[in-house]
Amino acid sequence: MTERGQKLDGKVVSAKIREEITREVHKRAKEGRKPGLALVLVGDDPASKVYVNMKQKACEETGILSRIDRMPADSTQEQVLQRVREINADPDYHGLLVQSPLPDALDEDEVVRAIKPEKDVDGFHPYNVGLLALNQPLFIPCTPLGIIEILKHYELDPSGKNVVVIGRSHLVGMPVSLLLARKAEWANATVTICHSRTQNIGEITRSADILIVAIGSAEFVTAEMVKEDAVVIDVGMNRVDDASKKRGYRLVGDVAYSEVREKASWITPVPGGVGPMTVALLLKNTLLAEELMRT
Ligand code: GUN
Repeated sequence: MTERGQKLDGKVVSAKIREEITREVHKRAKEGRKPGLALVLVGDDPASKVYVNMKQKACEETGILSRIDRMPADSTQEQVLQRVREINADPDYHGLLVQSPLPDALDEDEVVRAIKPEKDVDGFHPYNVGLLALNQPLFIPCTPLGIIEILKHYELDPSGKNVVVIGRSHLVGMPVSLLLARKAEWANATVTICHSRTQNIGEITRSADILIVAIGSAEFVTAEMVKEDAVVIDVGMNRVDDASKKRGYRLVGDVAYSEVREKASWITPVPGGVGPMTVALLLKNTLLAEELMRT
């Protein structure tokens, strides 16, 4: 019988990738090259602030140049677009990302379209999404790529498997579905996408050999929605009020971890699963951006 509840440890896998990145950055430094990543943060969303700071810290630890442009919540669309254009033109920064979500008054789609596709390390620009859909990827979004890297590390090949994705966001659900359905190594899956209008969702999720959950709803997936011995990937990161914690909340995923781990063969914890992978793959995409700029 397959062992239950084995941990897919994003900390271990991301540390390995970050070591490779550090070595590559040192190698390029000897050639006078320094990859750079510019991060744009608009407004005061507390989670976004944490993520952007984490990304900058990861750059510092691996030797990648970084900057954070913090813009006030009442910035105009034109001010944000102008900042993006400035960074597009700055040769020291090969990667550029605008942290999502933007304040409600701003048009996020237009901002993403303003990013130079060759600097779009998030892989969110329509050009990069189109290339992924056509199986000619340039930049692949970091979280979906991180999920593939976890599966690879633990030798869990999705080829021919039923993969069910809950969530159709541009950040995760849609690109991870495209990625896994491709004719490619560590892909070739039969992919089903579930979302808020899906009927009988449990029936569909119980058919999953690999279940990927990215809806931003705390502990949405319960044990009865999961097939025995399934692989469960939890992309959620939800703050739940908890007076017993110093900061007043705790972080939980989209999966009810303690009950689902009894049924799953492999499962990502939250935190320490997909989260650290996203950051590691962002650094890797930044190295790719620097490489692209030379050619
Ligand atoms: N918000 C949540 N995840 C991400 C991400 O990977 N990139 C950006 N730009 N914003 C995010």
